Amino acid sequence: MKFSKQPMASAVSLGSLIAVQSVRFGSNIAEISQQWNDVFPANNFNRNVSTPFWETTILDDTTTNETRETLRRIEEMSFIVYDNRMYDLLGVSGYTSSKELEVIFEFPKRPSYAQRQVHDATVYVPSVKAVFFAELHSPKPDFGMTAIPFVWRIDVSNTSTPEFEKVNPEPALTIANGAYHHNGSVYWAQEGNFTTPGGIVQMDPTTMKTQIVKNNFYSHRFNSPNDVVVSDEGVAYFTDGYYGYDNFNDTLKPQLANGVYRWDMKTGNTKMVAGAADGAFFNPNGVAFDAYQNKLFVTNRGNSSADPAGGRTIYQYDLTPTGITNREIFAYVDSGFPDGIKTDRDGRVYAGVTGGVDVFEQDGTLIGRIKVNNGDVAVNMAWVNDWLYIVGRDYAYRVQLEATER
Ligand SMILES: *[C@@H]1O[C@H](CO)[C@@H](O)[C@H](O)[C@H]1NC(C)=O
Ligand SMILES: *[C@@H]1O[C@H](CO)[C@@H](O)[C@H](O)[C@H]1NC(C)=O
Ligand SMILES: *[C@@H]1O[C@H](CO)[C@@H](O)[C@H](O)[C@H]1NC(C)=O
Ligand SMILES: *[C@@H]1O[C@H](CO)[C@@H](O)[C@H](O)[C@H]1NC(C)=O
Ligand SMILES: *[C@@H]1O[C@H](CO)[C@@H](O)[C@H](O)[C@H]1NC(C)=O
Ligand SMILES: *[C@@H]1O[C@H](CO)[C@@H](O)[C@H](O)[C@H]1NC(C)=O
Ligand SMILES: *[C@@H]1O[C@H](CO)[C@@H](O)[C@H](O)[C@H]1NC(C)=O
Repeated sequence: MKFSKQPMASAVSLGSLIAVQSVRFGSNIAEISQQWNDVFPANNFNRNVSTPFWETTILDDTTTNETRETLRRIEEMSFIVYDNRMYDLLGVSGYTSSKELEVIFEFPKRPSYAQRQVHDATVYVPSVKAVFFAELHSPKPDFGMTAIPFVWRIDVSNTSTPEFEKVNPEPALTIANGAYHHNGSVYWAQEGNFTTPGGIVQMDPTTMKTQIVKNNFYSHRFNSPNDVVVSDEGVAYFTDGYYGYDNFNDTLKPQLANGVYRWDMKTGNTKMVAGAADGAFFNPNGVAFDAYQNKLFVTNRGNSSADPAGGRTIYQYDLTPTGITNREIFAYVDSGFPDGIKTDRDGRVYAGVTGGVDVFEQDGTLIGRIKVNNGDVAVNMAWVNDWLYIVGRDYAYRVQLEATER
């Protein structure tokens, strides 16, 4: 739906509050002013942590309908801008410009036994011009998940028409999740199941042949490895949480703490670098380096994304020759939890959340959001040159930005 390009700014009196209703709309960009953000233009409101902010509930009858209309219009947009730096990233001059967010694929409907579908990993392999990611059916309401033999492959060799297909790693992965491209191979974090302990699997992106390269911590099973990155020097960092046990009832009872492991692939040395000792993590999830491999970002879900006191945090660390240090809260997201994260050459951080992709400057400032279709959740992303490919639960998207991964 298109709207006329008219700025909207009018003062409304809200009892003792004076708020300036200033959200400016272009055809698909909404620019939100600081005032609107600082003093929400309603007398009484509330929001469930599982919902995006345009679904805020206005709890009184006295607030002007303009606020409801503004929220409704925001819901129709593709981009939300909080800071002018978002325009630099979008490569447009302002909210009246038009910028395309392409919906490139609609996933087939989930099977009847599953409550929903999740698509994770999203890793680009330039040598085969393809993006790979895995599909996980939610266990609920049956609470139990079968390993899915295929993974998705997006052939991006024709840049104007990405082609989606299902391909079969051999042997199959066992509840694959995050993945990373390193030295010609794809490294998958797989959660495992009752009969196959989770770990890291190396896959040849041309032949699809796989081999398990890490599946234990001194013969302890990992709990459910969720995401992995590998430095240019061959040092892997991967997250391990209780998802397989708590969410899927698909793994044995965990014997280890939640945390982040550092695995030196050259020496085999494996050590936990965050988790048991500092207690920061409950269900850590996405992991990403900055473009220069000086920093590590790790997301934490917490108990569930609907838990008001849940994790919902992106932590930032400095990488050292032996591990990570200087933990800092990089961002606490406001919708759901940060699932996949990616970074770019300019230090920005992109987090897949309920409703879209949140974009942060390297200082942690939320500069804008790339919205997915209403009702969808952005799960993870992959850079293909200056295109950011976004996989949600229901659709896949892409947008061309003034940035690249490295
Ligand atoms: C928030 O929304 C979620 C998902 O719709 C729901 O399960 C939960 O009960 C809601 N929480 C509250 C406090 O309403
Ligand atoms: C909002 O719109 C409804 C329906 O048009 C109307 O009944 C109500 O009085 C309006 N509320 C305010 C505060 O303007
Ligand atoms: C567990 O994983 C193995 C290996 O991928 C697979 O053969 C087996 O069917 C899986 N079990 C279930 C219940 O999905
Ligand atoms: C790429 O796809 C477009 C649209 O389907 C098509 O017109 C074009 O011929 C394709 N290019 C190549 C090199 O196949
Ligand atoms: C990359 O792969 C080659 C050949 O498989 C191997 O010799 C080399 O050590 C690997 N490099 C890194 C950094 O892992
Ligand atoms: C979890 O799975 C096990 C083995 O299939 C089953 O015995 C148990 O009842 C399940 N637990 C729940 C809570 O569904
Ligand atoms: C997670 O939530 C469940 C259900 O509310 C609760 O029983 C459990 O103690 C929580 N665990 C943690 C670690 O917060």
